[in-house]
Amino acid sequence: MSTPAHVAIIMDGNGRWAKARGLPRVAGHKAGVEALRQAVRAAGGLGIDWVTVYAFSSENWSRPQSEVSDLMGLLKLFIRRDLAELHRSGVKVRVIGEREGLQPDIRALLEEAESLTKDNRKLNLNIAFNYGGRDEIARAVRRIATDVAEGRLAISAITERTVADALDTAKIPDPDLVIRTSGEMRLSNFLLWQSAYSELVFLPCYWPDFTSAHFEEALRQFRARERRFGRVERDVVSSSA
Ligand code: FPP
Repeated sequence: MSTPAHVAIIMDGNGRWAKARGLPRVAGHKAGVEALRQAVRAAGGLGIDWVTVYAFSSENWSRPQSEVSDLMGLLKLFIRRDLAELHRSGVKVRVIGEREGLQPDIRALLEEAESLTKDNRKLNLNIAFNYGGRDEIARAVRRIATDVAEGRLAISAITERTVADALDTAKIPDPDLVIRTSGEMRLSNFLLWQSAYSELVFLPCYWPDFTSAHFEEALRQFRARERRFGRVERDVVSSSA
């Protein structure tokens, strides 16, 4: 049975998890960080090579200032507390999203995490932070346009590969599976280009409640799908092949 090489996760429902318990939203995000730790551990055991998590979107800046700073604080805490263990476990950390606009201390921490873990091979963990799919595509277009304007690239040479290589996810395979928790059924600007042929699995549980059993359930649904990539049925690549 095939296992998806790359699983992308929209960790949704922290706020509702907290509300249901009469707790402040930040408590939901803290519990979300714990669920993230467990999900990363589970991914290694499930034979997944790449995990990409949506930790802070370009649109999340419009949340109340206090929640934005809670999320920034949690990212710092996560890197400070977990980086050594991630490194020991062979996890290679990469951050996708717009770095400009982030505080210098956060940028420095993200760079430290990437540089410390750059040679690790057990699992790739991509953290989407200050990330938006449309923003990523717009930044890629600016890079490509600059190459054209400065004579390094002919317009006729621009292919899908050129675009893919100009995205933050250059050299990262497209996600085979995108999981979203909390019952919402949309991509919310996550990996728009990369998820063209991803299987989407929506789970009803809130992110802080996500366990390895939910992960296995998502993989079970993935394996039951028939991946056609635009082809006809007889040529399908079955997920369970
Ligand atoms: C969505 O829940 C979740 C987020 C906006 C942030 C995800 C963040 C974490 C899991 C913890 C932080 C992790 C790191 C590494 C910083 P929501 O707040 O939209 O929940 P709601 O839809 O129920 O309100």
